[in-house]
Amino acid sequence: GLPSRVRVHEVGARDGLQNEKATVPAQVKAEFIRRLAATGLTTIEATSFVHPKWVPQLADAEQLFPAVAHLPVELPVLVPNERGLDRALALGARRVAVFASATESFAKANLNRTLDEALTMFEPVVARAKEADVHVRGYLSMCFGDPWEGPVPVLQVVKVCRALLDMGCDELSLGDTIGVATPGQVSALLGALTAAGVPVSALGVHFHDTYGQALSNTLTALRHGVTTVDASAGGLGGCPYAKSATGNLATEDLVWMLRGLGIDTGVDLGRLVATSVWMAAHLGRPSPSRTVRALAHQ
Ligand code: HMG
Ligand code: MG
Repeated sequence: GLPSRVRVHEVGARDGLQNEKATVPAQVKAEFIRRLAATGLTTIEATSFVHPKWVPQLADAEQLFPAVAHLPVELPVLVPNERGLDRALALGARRVAVFASATESFAKANLNRTLDEALTMFEPVVARAKEADVHVRGYLSMCFGDPWEGPVPVLQVVKVCRALLDMGCDELSLGDTIGVATPGQVSALLGALTAAGVPVSALGVHFHDTYGQALSNTLTALRHGVTTVDASAGGLGGCPYAKSATGNLATEDLVWMLRGLGIDTGVDLGRLVATSVWMAAHLGRPSPSRTVRALAHQ
């Protein structure tokens, strides 16, 4: 069966923008988030408290977060380490996310750490966040394929998932960072996680759409009981530290499919399309989302 409701975890303002070469002004990002909130989205990832040299586009986190903090939505932020957590807590963030990798190569490229060192770095972050009653998401990148290592063994992914949950993460997001997964792999991983005792209610999925498989992969995950789906308005996105990563699953494509299936998201599709068209005009190129293109001129 399929769930009756899906929570969309909107990542356009973070994953969507982090790879943009030209700096998007903080006021434009704040307006983007305000418009996203007005569509009915309830979880809008706002920014990352990472090293500004690593992700220059998000160097304005201290300016942006207070500009949107009053909105009646959840505003998770990424924090790689205690320095990032300090910055987020100082601004009153109530939801943070650490971001691990299922592979050594990406841990090194993205965090300048081995896998074990990265997990060690997250331990005090998660512990201190929980003490402050802050919700913690644990991202897990390269769950299916890695640009340097190729296909990723399922048990390797299960092991890192376990470590993140044991550390105290409230939920996990399974990332197909470079968008190579196909539905059979999604089934195999979710089956293995369930067999290992991981509750499906703690799992979200995070698909990039490089090979056009994001929606099929999402439907497969829903059939396994997943009800949290990450998506990016207009299909913006890509990771600066992963070769060949393109945009995320477009939120509009997701909402179109869910609406057709009678699954409630609370999102007003027309307003969302208008928001992505507005953002595309700002970025100077059309949205890659098929749904945005189909609905934009109606
Ligand atoms: P490092 O160079 O090893 O840093 O980078 P360090 O710990 O050695 O510290 C060096 C300096 O950076 C120090 O300053 C620190 O204070 C400072 P100094 O003493 O030299 O003056 N520093 C910071 N400054 C501000 N904020 C911080 C911070 N931390 C240290 N948080 C580090 C290690 C983790 C910092 C770096 O690798 C980093 O920032 N990485 C972030 C990479 C990133 O954001 N990637 C994109 C997000 S992940 C993703 O997109 C995938 C996802 O979408 C899921 C999927 O698709 O799979 C989530
Ligand atoms: Mg991503």
